[in-house]
Amino acid sequence: MAWPTDPDTEIFGLIDREVQRQNTGLQLIASENFTSPAVMAATGSVLTNKYSEGYPNKRYYGGNQVIDEVEELARERVKALFGADHANVQPHSGANANMATYLALLEPGDVVMGMSLDHGGHLTHGSPVNASGQFYRFVPYGVTESDHRIDMAQVRELALEHRPRLIVAGATAYPRRIDPEPFRAVADEVGALFMFDAAHIAGLIAGGAHPSPVPYADVVTFTTHKTLRGPRGGCILCRSEHAAAIDKAVFPGSQGGPLEHVIAAKAVAFREAADPSFAGYAAGVVDNARALAEALRSQGFGLVSGGTDNHLVLVDLRTFDDDLTGKEAQSVLDDAGITLNKNTVPDDPRSPFVTSGVRIGTPSVTTQGMGTAEMGLIAELMARALRHRRDPAELAAVKDDVATLCSKFTPYPG
Ligand SMILES: Cc1ncc(COP(=O)(O)O)c(C=O)c1O
Repeated sequence: MAWPTDPDTEIFGLIDREVQRQNTGLQLIASENFTSPAVMAATGSVLTNKYSEGYPNKRYYGGNQVIDEVEELARERVKALFGADHANVQPHSGANANMATYLALLEPGDVVMGMSLDHGGHLTHGSPVNASGQFYRFVPYGVTESDHRIDMAQVRELALEHRPRLIVAGATAYPRRIDPEPFRAVADEVGALFMFDAAHIAGLIAGGAHPSPVPYADVVTFTTHKTLRGPRGGCILCRSEHAAAIDKAVFPGSQGGPLEHVIAAKAVAFREAADPSFAGYAAGVVDNARALAEALRSQGFGLVSGGTDNHLVLVDLRTFDDDLTGKEAQSVLDDAGITLNKNTVPDDPRSPFVTSGVRIGTPSVTTQGMGTAEMGLIAELMARALRHRRDPAELAAVKDDVATLCSKFTPYPG
């Protein structure tokens, strides 16, 4: 055998340390989850060895008999899960899925509407630092000042004024339900196409906790690694009339050889999400987010939009402590074994590198079996760490308490 026989202790030592971090700390990043051993086994399989440019039965390389069956199974499973006409399971990520969709539906310079980044949208929805904002003319919409809900009156006004070719719904830091129907109505009124980016909420949709955009949208993109709890990757669902354009835009339009090991893992995750127990998981994620929001409010934290309907809470730190920034909170909580990310709040006076808020998600803690009682404890631990943020001994004590809590819900024992 030509492979080196000495174990790579450096990399596998680091992987061991990361397992330890995931097992002993609180993982509250809203876009993360714990995948099943079956998902990881498929991701780590020999399918990584195979080149398979093209699509099932239309490949540029030989030897794809098994691969074709893998990819076909993934496509069939995801179509059945969401009731879609057509699926492309090859996008390497959510960003790739979005860019391929733009490539399929738009010409450079076309007008597109998307949610602005500082109100909760994603970089790929027209940010000037992203290719989407450089190739297309994005017109941003946002949330209302009064209740932080998507301002549908503004969406309609801007659509009537700018006549976009495409309207994009979906968000990365928005704690409320997104109804696809009113977006479809505006798109129809101005003759636009409608894309729903369900990156964050695909698992909530699959589990029946949120309305499905599939009957309303021309194209639905999503990531497989967030609430859907699969491997890191993207996926596109579309109406039959867009199928050929979408497939061409993914390959050869914007990607090379597909990651068939990841596609196999996506198929595993689609099967897991079709299991009746997944509806209980999706409902649990939302229940936990609501309980966490209430517990945080009673600790003095402000809540953007006053609460949540989904898997995340967007906390405004200014009511808790006006001097505390999102950047400092993220760093202090990291030291206490609590992982989350800083986030701007709508119309944040601080920069995106500093921020006045943090985003907190419940997909991971729900997977490891925590319930609403634990959400109260998490809010207490967060408040304690942030109140005593200049006291290293107290931060160490919080870290111990976090480890004790997590030891009852270890995601990867052994
Ligand atoms: C709404 C939305 N779209 C797209 C993406 C991009 O996904 P990825 O990081 O897999 O490229 C994200 C990631 O957070 C997202 O929140």
